[in-house]
Order: sequence, then structure tokens, then C-alpha cells
Amino acid sequence: MDKKAELKIDGETYYLPVVEGTEQERGLDISKLRAESGCITLDIGYKNTGSTKSDITFINGEEGILRYRGYSIEELCEKSNFIEVAYLLIYGELPTKEQYDEFENDIRRHTIIHEDLKHYYDAYPQRAHPMGVLASMVSSLSLYYPESLDPNPPEDQIDRHIRRLIAKITTIAAQSYKNSMGHPMMYPDNKLNYAENFLHMMFALPTENYEVNPTLARALDMLLILHADHEQNCSASTVRMVGSSQANIYATISAGISALWGPLHGGANQAVIEMLEKIKEDGGDSKKWIEKAKDKDDPFRLMGFGHRVYKNFDPRAKIIKSECDKVLAELNVNEPILEIAKELEEHALSDDYFAEKKLYPNVDFYSGIMYKAMGIPTEMFTVLFAIGRLPGWIAQWKEMREGKEPINRPRQIYTGYNERSYNPIDKRS
Ligand code: CMC
Repeated sequence: MDKKAELKIDGETYYLPVVEGTEQERGLDISKLRAESGCITLDIGYKNTGSTKSDITFINGEEGILRYRGYSIEELCEKSNFIEVAYLLIYGELPTKEQYDEFENDIRRHTIIHEDLKHYYDAYPQRAHPMGVLASMVSSLSLYYPESLDPNPPEDQIDRHIRRLIAKITTIAAQSYKNSMGHPMMYPDNKLNYAENFLHMMFALPTENYEVNPTLARALDMLLILHADHEQNCSASTVRMVGSSQANIYATISAGISALWGPLHGGANQAVIEMLEKIKEDGGDSKKWIEKAKDKDDPFRLMGFGHRVYKNFDPRAKIIKSECDKVLAELNVNEPILEIAKELEEHALSDDYFAEKKLYPNVDFYSGIMYKAMGIPTEMFTVLFAIGRLPGWIAQWKEMREGKEPINRPRQIYTGYNERSYNPIDKRS
């Protein structure tokens, strides 16, 4: 028998169906509540609200579990690669050899951006933040592929947009860095794999020989896998919400990029390094900054700590931490802020405030450190998060579309003035 929860409002009982997921997560279906009772539910920040049912990613925040389509990220990091994981997220199953080759080949073939798009970079200020450039350029792609404006395109066209986006996002991102340096654009080298090609476009120069370091390329590929999806976070929810209005896929993904930019979301990886630099300039006393983070009157928060869902540890952070040590040793990196990071982590983990509130280092704490060690410029950190998250956004968008979800339109409890009369300006005090 279907389970139902009982809700009493003013002596009247309402029955709410209990919905259960494949991992026994339970939710109350309130979709008919307003029609039946006149009440809505209030959950500011959606801390307790399921916005959809999804087959894509499973997270158990208490136990630190993260799985894409049923596969643990630990296993995917060890045995798969980013392009295969992208296929898995978007199409629901691991590809056959034939499907993989076709997908990978399509992505390799689409890496070049339209020559006219290169002129856009001339108009951005040289110090333009690459996340702003990325969001604008991705949205601009819709102008070059106007067929994307059709809200009901044929499936093969959707696939082309998807592959184009995955291919071009690295070229757009690398060019925004080259632009900020005043360096010439490096065209993609399609003999290279996805991570290698990105490193080539970022760091090669026409005047020098550049060999991609395989340790860096593998580490980058792993970081992309770890960022590939994270169920209904702020940017994925933005993508589903914008997409639900039938805005085109490029505009929709651009909205996701903008949502990711904030320091409480993907922008935290940049904020971590900026925080560590600040602590270093201030004399390197990490305990003092821990105290600042605990002080309710001080707006400072320990960036890279805490998570809405993970309350024991962030499994992504665990993998990056162990990889980070290996990469630092292999690249022979000696960076003073990395010492501060270690100290800060040790102090925070042994502090009651952080233990009580279940605040642990999250993915952005270690990824920021790792990107720094890899020589990635700080302002590009969140761009790398966006490149990694792209398959997840696409998968969320595709699921929302195929599930024919209605336009997202939450309600509110109005707390403003009741009706009042307009006072002419000369009568106002
Ligand atoms: N430093 C100090 N105190 C903190 C921190 C922190 N980093 N994070 C949370 N708290 C405190 C917070 O003040 C609150 O205390 P109280 O209950 O006394 O008011 C309590 O812990 C709960 O915090 P919250 O802000 O209500 O929790 P939330 O679920 O709304 O926020 C968060 C989650 C990630 C936004 C938050 O922990 C934070 O701001 N962390 C720093 C930014 C960061 O690292 N963001 C990256 C998240 S991981 C990447 C991603 O998936 O986006």
C-alpha cells in the first residue's frame, strides 16, 4: 500500500504521498497541498526541498557517498576518464567502444571556435575575469547556431549542441586566459586528448616548444571527473530552472556558469587561495583566522570549509587530498601557502566549533591548492570547475527536458505592506 503522511491544519487532515527513491530517501509529495488546503510550504534556501526526481547522481552526505549513474566516483577516478564520464552522465550508461569513439571524435572535431568569435576578445578589458568572459562567450554561441533557439529541435541537433559545447568550452576558456596575458591565441591540437589539449591551449606559445606534462594532464582529468556533477546544487538548479523556460541550451548553460561563479559555490576555489595569500601576508598565523571564522560579528568564513550536504567529509576532497600529495611531490612544488593550508586544516579539524557544526574541508579547499601547484592562474580555478561541471549541467538539462518538467516557478509568503494609497510627492514628509 502506498504510504501517506498526515498533516493537520486548523483541525483539517491532509494526506501527503510519501515518495521513496532507489536509495530509500524519502520525501513528502506536496504538489496538491495548495490546491487542497490553500497552504504552501516555506523553505528558504531550499534546505529541505526536493525540486525534482533524478536518475543522475546520488549523494549520501552523512556517509560521504557520491555516485554518478550508480558508479562511485572513487572507481570512476581510478578506471575511467572525463570524456567517458561525460557520456555516462549525459546518456545514462557507459558507452560501448563504438559509442565512445564516436563521442570522443565528435568532441575533438568541434574544438575550434568561429573565427568571428575571436574578435569578441578584443572588446573585453584585458583584466576581465575569465568567468565573466566564459558566461558571455557561451551565451554568444547561440547567435552562431540560431537553430538552437528552436524549443523542440530534433534529437540529433541536440546531440550536436551538446558535443559542440563540451568541445568549445576549453578553447573559449583558454583563450580568455591568453587574452588576459596579451598572448596570441593557441589553436587546439586535436591529436591531444581533452585535458592535454586544454593545457596546450593554456600554456603553449607559438615561439616555444611545449610538451604537455602527463602527470598534469592526468591530474586535471581526475579533477574534471570529480567536478562533473553534484545533483541539485545552486548551478544545476539554475540550469534546470532557466532551461524549464525553454531558453536555448547555450543561454541555459551560461546561466549555470554565472551561478557557479559566486564564492559560496564554485568561486570558493579561487577564494581559498586568496584567503591563504591574505593569511600569509598577515604573518601566517592560521589560529588567528580560525578565531575570526568563529566570531559571529566578523563576516569572515573559512573558505573551502563546510557543505550543505556533506556533514562528515566530502568524498571529492578526500580523493583530491591524496592525489594532491602525489602531484606536489612529483612536480617538486614548494609553495609557502600550501604549508599554511595544512596548518589551517589541522587547527580547524581539532577545533570544537568546526566539529560541532560538522564543517570539513570541501572539494574547493584541495582543488584550489592543487590548481595552484599545477601552475593554473588563480582566476582560472572556477573556470576549470565550470569545464568539469558542464556534462552534469547538460545531463540535468536533458533530464528536465525529457521529463517534460513544467516551468519552474516557486511561490512565496508575502510580508510587505498591505494595499495603501499613492501620495503625491509634495504631500510626502
Ligand atoms: N566558516 C565558518 N563558519 C561556517 C562556515 C565556514 N566556512 N560554513 C558554515 N559555517 C557556520 C555558519 O556560520 C553557521 O553557523 P550558525 O549555525 O551558528 O549560524 C553554520 O556553520 C551552518 O552554516 P550555513 O551557512 O547555515 O550552512 P549552509 O548549508 O547554508 O552553507 C556553505 C554551506 C558551503 C555555503 C558554507 O559552509 C560556506 O559558506 N562555506 C564556505 C564557502 C565554500 O567553501 N563553498 C564551497 C562549497 S563546496 C563546492 C560546491 O559544491 O559549491
